[in-house]
Amino acid sequence: MASAAPASFAPAPCDWHPEDISFPSGFAWGAATAAYQVEGGWNADGKGPNVWDTFTHQGGDRVFKNQTGDVACGSYTLWEEDLKCIKQLGLTHYRFSLSWSRLLPDGTTGFINQKGVDYYDKIIDDLLANGIVPMVTLYHFDLPQHLEDQGGWSSDAITEVFDNYAQFCFRTFGDRVKLWVTINEPYVVAKDGYEKGIVAPGIMDPGIGAYRTAHNMIKAHAKAWHSYDLLFRKKQQGLVSIALNSDWAEPLDSTCLADQEATKRYMAFCLDWFAEPIFTSGDYPAIMKSQISLMSTKQGYLSSKLPEFTEEEKKMIKGTADFFALNYYTTRKVKHQENTCCEPSVSGDKEAEQILDHSWPLAAGSSWLAVVPWGLRRLLKYIKDTYNNPIIYITENGFSQSDPAPLDDTQRWKYFRLTLQEILKAISLDDVHLKGYFVWSLLDNFEWTCGYSCRFGLFHVDFENPALPRVPYGSAIEYAKVIANNGLMK
Ligand code: NOJ
Repeated sequence: MASAAPASFAPAPCDWHPEDISFPSGFAWGAATAAYQVEGGWNADGKGPNVWDTFTHQGGDRVFKNQTGDVACGSYTLWEEDLKCIKQLGLTHYRFSLSWSRLLPDGTTGFINQKGVDYYDKIIDDLLANGIVPMVTLYHFDLPQHLEDQGGWSSDAITEVFDNYAQFCFRTFGDRVKLWVTINEPYVVAKDGYEKGIVAPGIMDPGIGAYRTAHNMIKAHAKAWHSYDLLFRKKQQGLVSIALNSDWAEPLDSTCLADQEATKRYMAFCLDWFAEPIFTSGDYPAIMKSQISLMSTKQGYLSSKLPEFTEEEKKMIKGTADFFALNYYTTRKVKHQENTCCEPSVSGDKEAEQILDHSWPLAAGSSWLAVVPWGLRRLLKYIKDTYNNPIIYITENGFSQSDPAPLDDTQRWKYFRLTLQEILKAISLDDVHLKGYFVWSLLDNFEWTCGYSCRFGLFHVDFENPALPRVPYGSAIEYAKVIANNGLMK
């Protein structure tokens, strides 16, 4: 694997033995899931439909074998089985998401589904009774269908509806939940859900779809953060953030200025799009604003496709995260596209310039997932330097296997191990303020358009067997040892 350190990184001292070094005490060891991917019970006990129910029920081969999350891992009825897995790993933290339409069937607080509240109450109480800290995501891709019918994230009205939902959750669960994530991966929702239309709600709007929905998600997040800050923080003493996904990007030719610039654009259109308004300026990255403005003119728009925040909104958005929640999976090489010379990325799409380095190993289950553990260390350093050394939790990281997946996943554990070594270097050598690491995922589950063909779990789930048994992969057993040891062993 290519792992030469760039000049800006001091080489590891030769007596560096990550096996001898413990993680900081109190380090959060977690695993993560999301409601639609594991729960099933899609219409049980008064749950309302959400966009993923609709998307999968429509068929049309947009999901592998037209599979659905109707049953998934059955976690709605098999929570106790999940808890056994969590305990077997010895996790200190468990990240899961609330199904918005299980709690509020039409997405609004007009009607509350008590059965949904009971379900999450039990999960939270069981976790706490076992000394496990819950980290709760309010929204992980499964918007109530009733809200989508009114425009979903494209509609300005959603910001207030989301804020009401968030306040309801803080009020209902916040006496026990102290780590909150408002929105999971707004980049993916905006780009894949409302621009390319390849995931729910399947809206194809290559013009302003992604920019408009991202704009509303940023405002919705900020509103929810303020509600927490104003109404709940004093009493509940919790922390609120937003989970941002980001690749790490490197110039294809590190000596080429054009490639270096393209790499900056890549990071701007991916992580900084959300992180800069929320963590530093209250506004979009300058590079994004100028780029999109240029493109918009060229494409005949009367004004920039990127909406503008008012001064008041900028003030409202700036500083609305209590920690940095990062989902990291992969790294890309970036090459400037020659034909876009004066307007660097013609589509404004970071993907136009990315290159998959074929010397990097691919995770067996996902063609996009080049396994590059050292990219994570560099990304963490980037976040530290760019966003004022925040507290960081890696809220997702993982490697998929393809189905059928061997229980003996030695190769996969090798990557987890290398990743943990890079994390240790980030903490010990780069002084990154990293407080925790969550594996994606606790269980094999419904991997969106890949259905059940792609297995990210620490526990294997037999989806052919109606009992949906969970069996640990080798990686689960190894991860449990790391957690017990709070470090890597020789
Ligand atoms: C990130 C998403 O949050 C999660 O839902 C998904 O399963 C993983 N990426 C793997 O693709």
